[in-house]
Amino acid sequence: MRVIITKDYDEMSKWAANYVAQRIVEFAPTPERPFVLGCPTGSSPLGLYKQLIKLNKEGKISFQNVVTFNMDEYVNLPEEHPESYHSFMWTNFFNHIDIKKENVHILNGNAPDLKAECENYEKMIEQAGGIDLFMGGIGPDGHIAFNEPGSSLASKTRVKTLTTNTIQANCRFFDNDVNLVPKQALTVGVGTVMAAREVLLVVNGPAKARALHNVIDNGVNHMWTASALQMHPHGNIVCDEEACVDLKMSTYQYFKDKQTLEGIVEEYLEKF
Ligand code: GLP
Repeated sequence: MRVIITKDYDEMSKWAANYVAQRIVEFAPTPERPFVLGCPTGSSPLGLYKQLIKLNKEGKISFQNVVTFNMDEYVNLPEEHPESYHSFMWTNFFNHIDIKKENVHILNGNAPDLKAECENYEKMIEQAGGIDLFMGGIGPDGHIAFNEPGSSLASKTRVKTLTTNTIQANCRFFDNDVNLVPKQALTVGVGTVMAAREVLLVVNGPAKARALHNVIDNGVNHMWTASALQMHPHGNIVCDEEACVDLKMSTYQYFKDKQTLEGIVEEYLEKF
């Protein structure tokens, strides 16, 4: 696993966006061979999306031949609800870039048969050739997508019941009323994320420090589902200093020394 420590949220977002942009440019996608990008929601990737929009508007990258698959969606929340992940993605990203509507895939949490919806999603990912780069964030309990603590690390797309913790964390988007937060979601599995050719997680702020410590310092554990990334051949975490406050000093120092030696922070910050 590669851990990139940036000074703050803005630097983290810029680094992550430039990294994703560089992957797309190198891939040189075509209609026959599109780049397949996995997309998260949440406040963490907002800066990353803003930077990608900027690069697109400046003509430095194109999403014409990019196919996306979102991580998750609430069950029984109308698509047009401002807090649905459909709304989030179009408002914060897709409406501002040159992506084709037919290339966007988001789970339908209102499908009549949720199990079939999930199975079909996995099939569509497979038909698209698999995910080239899965971007993601983590919850304060170390969950990835909506794979709550205790989820199988081999799981595929399915219905998940949200933990009280996650419902409480997300109630800020629903008038701070836990009763308004959907209790279930459709989510890609940890196994779906792990099957991507590369994974890039953005982790920022002190609220994620405990999760980051458990995801990096300790072993792979289904109670901190993002820790499965330790088993991925191309797993990247880009975080800010604030998220590192609970890391072991030796872990922190190792990754800092490594990135200074490799110059990887500057390399990507200066890329576009
Ligand atoms: C939700 C999403 C996750 C996201 C997490 C953290 O649970 N399903 O994909 O990583 O929230 O969100 P935030 O970035 O707002 O802290």
